[in-house]
Amino acid sequence: MAEQATLTLGESSYEFPVHVGTEGERAIDIRNLRTRTGYVTLDPAFGNTASCESAITFIDGERGILRYRGIPIEQFAARPNFVEVAWLLIFGHLPTQAEYDAFAGDLTAHANLDEGMKHHFEGFPRTAPPMAILSAMINALSCFHPELHELEDSDQIREAAARLISKIRTIASYAYRHSRGLPYIYPDPHLRYVQNFLHMMFSDPYRQYECDATVRDALNLLLILHADHEQNCSTSTVRMVGSSQANLFASCAAGVCALWGPLHGGANVEVLQMLEQIRRGRITPEEYVKLAKDGDSKVRLMGFGHRVYKSFDPRATILGGVAEQLLAQLGRDDPLLDIARRLEEIALEDPYFIERKLYPNVDFYSGIILRAIGIPTNMFTVMFAIGRLPGWIAHWWEQHRDTGSRIARPRQLYVGPALNETASLSS
Ligand code: ACO
Repeated sequence: MAEQATLTLGESSYEFPVHVGTEGERAIDIRNLRTRTGYVTLDPAFGNTASCESAITFIDGERGILRYRGIPIEQFAARPNFVEVAWLLIFGHLPTQAEYDAFAGDLTAHANLDEGMKHHFEGFPRTAPPMAILSAMINALSCFHPELHELEDSDQIREAAARLISKIRTIASYAYRHSRGLPYIYPDPHLRYVQNFLHMMFSDPYRQYECDATVRDALNLLLILHADHEQNCSTSTVRMVGSSQANLFASCAAGVCALWGPLHGGANVEVLQMLEQIRRGRITPEEYVKLAKDGDSKVRLMGFGHRVYKSFDPRATILGGVAEQLLAQLGRDDPLLDIARRLEEIALEDPYFIERKLYPNVDFYSGIILRAIGIPTNMFTVMFAIGRLPGWIAHWWEQHRDTGSRIARPRQLYVGPALNETASLSS
């Protein structure tokens, strides 16, 4: 007999079905709870709520496992190819050679921005946060592609996905160049995804950026490791916005905003600032960790802790290694890596972090890699967004195709003033 959960409320008891996921995870299906009992559940920040069924990414936070469509992320490290993984996430299988070639061709074909769209950059001050520009410009794509507002079949989603995944790197690099007062560099159709992005970031009209193979692989892998993480804050935002049947561009623009915050994607900037503070001698690693443990200080050890991982974040393990290899192969030394390693060492031996199961997360080492590549700190979260975009698209599309999907609309427990019919309003 299928498993049931019994809920007892006073004299009454109710049975609710239990759903079992592929990996044995169990979820009590309470979708009829309120209709049947009049009760709702209270789960602030959704720590115990599965908001949907999803076939894209599996995480086992206790065992430090992360898989995309069943494939362990470690398997992408040998020959990292972000475009291949983007396809896998959105369409559910690794691309055949023909699918890959066609998709890569579409990415090349759609790299340019409409000339009209470029003028929008001029309206932003040089000091504008690149995440604000990114979100605004992704939303602006809705204006330039009204034909892609309604996506119903796989050809249409492929076209929209190719446009978005291609153009986000153009928007990102132009946001950077605008902030520096540099001329925009057109995409080069002969370059592959990552190299083309670095070309638009760092080439000059009179000098072509030379992309080192080590840098190419490190950036491909970094983007892959950011590509999806099931129902995280920004992905849940994309799904929430998409549930109202808002178009893909609008939904992903909202995802960028959610990612921006320092408790989510913005943590990679905060990690760098923390490491810099220590490097400048303003505080020692020991003092910083002490401060992070002090509940009154509001300081956190940035890049540590995760809602789901209660052991090592496998992405951090890989990225720590990539940071070391990249610096070694580029023949560089970065004191921030030593500081990060020292912070990690102190924290992992400290009962505060051990008891709370706080380990380095994806943001702890990513900044050191981005810095080695030459990406400025204020672009770090933009790089996260480029990586996460295929995940957002995959989730938007999964939800869009789900015939049982409804507008996301949580309930609340009202704790405000009780009915007050005697209050008099001042004129
Ligand atoms: N430094 C110090 N203490 C921490 C940290 C940290 N980085 N993270 C959590 N804690 C402590 C909390 O103070 C709390 O302690 P308490 O039980 O004594 O009150 C306990 O650990 C649990 O923390 P919560 O905030 O309840 O955990 P939650 O799951 O809500 O938050 C989060 C997870 C936001 C990632 C948190 O660990 C954090 O703020 N980390 C630093 C920011 C960061 O690195 N964010 C990136 C996350 S990964 C990503 O989004 C890409």
